[in-house]
Amino acid sequence: MSRVNTVTVALTGASGLPYGLRLIEALLQAGVRVWVLYSQAAQIVAKQEMNLTLPSRPAETRDWLLRRFNADPDLLQVYGREEWFAPPASGSNPPDAMVVCPCSMGTLAAIAHGMSDNLIERAADVCIKEQRKLVLVPRETPLSAIHLENMLKLARLGVSILPPSPGFYTHPETVDDMVDFVVARILDQLGVDNALMPRWGASQEE
Ligand SMILES: Cc1cc2nc3c(=O)[nH]c(=O)nc-3n(C[C@H](O)[C@H](O)[C@H](O)COP(=O)(O)O)c2cc1C
Repeated sequence: MSRVNTVTVALTGASGLPYGLRLIEALLQAGVRVWVLYSQAAQIVAKQEMNLTLPSRPAETRDWLLRRFNADPDLLQVYGREEWFAPPASGSNPPDAMVVCPCSMGTLAAIAHGMSDNLIERAADVCIKEQRKLVLVPRETPLSAIHLENMLKLARLGVSILPPSPGFYTHPETVDDMVDFVVARILDQLGVDNALMPRWGASQEE
């Protein structure tokens, strides 16, 4: 049984869009309601690294996601960058949790400083102030002191910093295996049951 009913998933312009899309798919499959947000840079990265065209209009992106994942329309909403009347913009109707995946260093910095300049930053700010689960999947390498200080500040506020660092001890054979490793850890943070990866020590229990 999932501990969350509604999760906001924000896609930003860091490399790693396959993680975000697989997360949306897994949440929908688990029957979790998903509110999707995406930045302009995420559209550029989607084209560059997956040859995907994420439409600029949220309604078209919603249709595209519903088709791609053959999902229940009742479970999916997509909101625009300045859709300030969308539920995740307010503390009166926040989701149970939010994941920024992948999370660019720019969005990470904006969240760490409470900028709230677009719906992604505002929704994250709402999660922090309302003490809802917020998971950031930051991607950059190497990390500068600025990045690390921003992450430390957020971690001290209770934000989960979950770098996409797949382990090799599960002997991944495909890129999809490595993506699933990271997505399984995000789902674990949200309390969403999943069997994407074998559990550590599970074979000894049998
Ligand atoms: C192909 C591509 C890959 C990028 N990869 C990263 C990355 O891994 N991490 C990062 O912080 N920024 C990355 N960037 C830069 C961000 O997209 C840029 O800083 C942007 O302003 C972030 O905006 P957003 O946070 O609103 O999505 C990349 C840009 C492109 C075009």
